[in-house]
Amino acid sequence: MRVLITGASGQLGNELQRLFETGRAEIGSIPQQFVGAEVVYTDTPQLDITDAKAVEGFVADGGFDLIINCAAMTNVDGCESNEELANRVNALGAENLARAAAGVGSPIIHTSTDYVFPGTEAGERVESDAVAPLSAYGRSKLEGERLVAAANPKHHIVRTAWLYGYVGKNFAKTMLRLAKDHDEVTVVDDQLGNPTSANDLAYEILKIALSDDYGIWHVTNEGTCSWADFAEAVLVDADCTVKRCTSTEYKVAHPESADRPAFSSLRNKHLEETIGNEMRSWQVALADYLKNLPELEG
Ligand SMILES: NC(=O)c1ccc[n+]([C@@H]2O[C@H](COP(=O)([O-])OP(=O)(O)OC[C@H]3O[C@@H](n4cnc5c(N)ncnc54)[C@H](OP(=O)(O)O)[C@@H]3O)[C@@H](O)[C@H]2O)c1
Repeated sequence: MRVLITGASGQLGNELQRLFETGRAEIGSIPQQFVGAEVVYTDTPQLDITDAKAVEGFVADGGFDLIINCAAMTNVDGCESNEELANRVNALGAENLARAAAGVGSPIIHTSTDYVFPGTEAGERVESDAVAPLSAYGRSKLEGERLVAAANPKHHIVRTAWLYGYVGKNFAKTMLRLAKDHDEVTVVDDQLGNPTSANDLAYEILKIALSDDYGIWHVTNEGTCSWADFAEAVLVDADCTVKRCTSTEYKVAHPESADRPAFSSLRNKHLEETIGNEMRSWQVALADYLKNLPELEG
């Protein structure tokens, strides 16, 4: 089995690498089919997914059985001020990979986001619910989903949310850093979603890769909370309190920030109905993360 991972230096890419190297995720052992797999890890310097010719050549020469696209422009506010670049990476780059994969008959796993939803309705969103992104990031990711699906019939589109891994930048690490020299952090409490461990997501992605039930998958840790609840759980042992604010108050203080959905909690329905949903509660996954972070942080 030969696997190509793009965007491998990011949060999810690093957790996939950890799983392939150790054979284990925090949830359990990786599927037997991936033990001993040859995995090629690339990020922009080795393979810029926006370079269609380079992608086509790399994939045609690589003999890959599976391609996992973790490459993305994930800075939500950055996408708002540079939607053209966001589209180039998140939509056209994803299409380049999907088309190249189709050219050699390989399936593609493409990662997407809860921010494809408008978040106007309370409750959990399932894979078939109507999409209508509020932000440039969400629009570019939705276009990526559509282009990937059109370019390669063997596509798994995996939507996740509020991701945190041991390597790279994320909200949990930002809270821990701020808590070192602040008594209080101000966090919005009217946006609800699912904090998700990149280690758990990587595990489910490998299970999904073995399915031929192509389409969209929601993969988040179980349970819904606000960013303020998430911050409090991260700072459980820190000498720092969380001051709750509304999205409107946050926007006044940060006018350049992108709009985000109020309710973007996802239900892992496709997993539940097919290969099984092993995702843990977000609190249990976060507790493991906080315990392991001092050793694994990068
Ligand atoms: N982070 C979240 O909270 C979150 C939430 C929902 C969904 N997702 C989705 O989950 C997936 C993984 O996210 P993540 O948090 O692991 O992202 P990440 O940490 O930002 O990693 C993305 C990687 O892609 C690289 N990259 C950017 N442009 C590229 C290009 N043109 N060619 C090749 N590589 C490129 C980035 O390099 P640079 O850093 O040098 O740009 C980075 O190493 C993405 O599809 C993302 O949209 C993430």
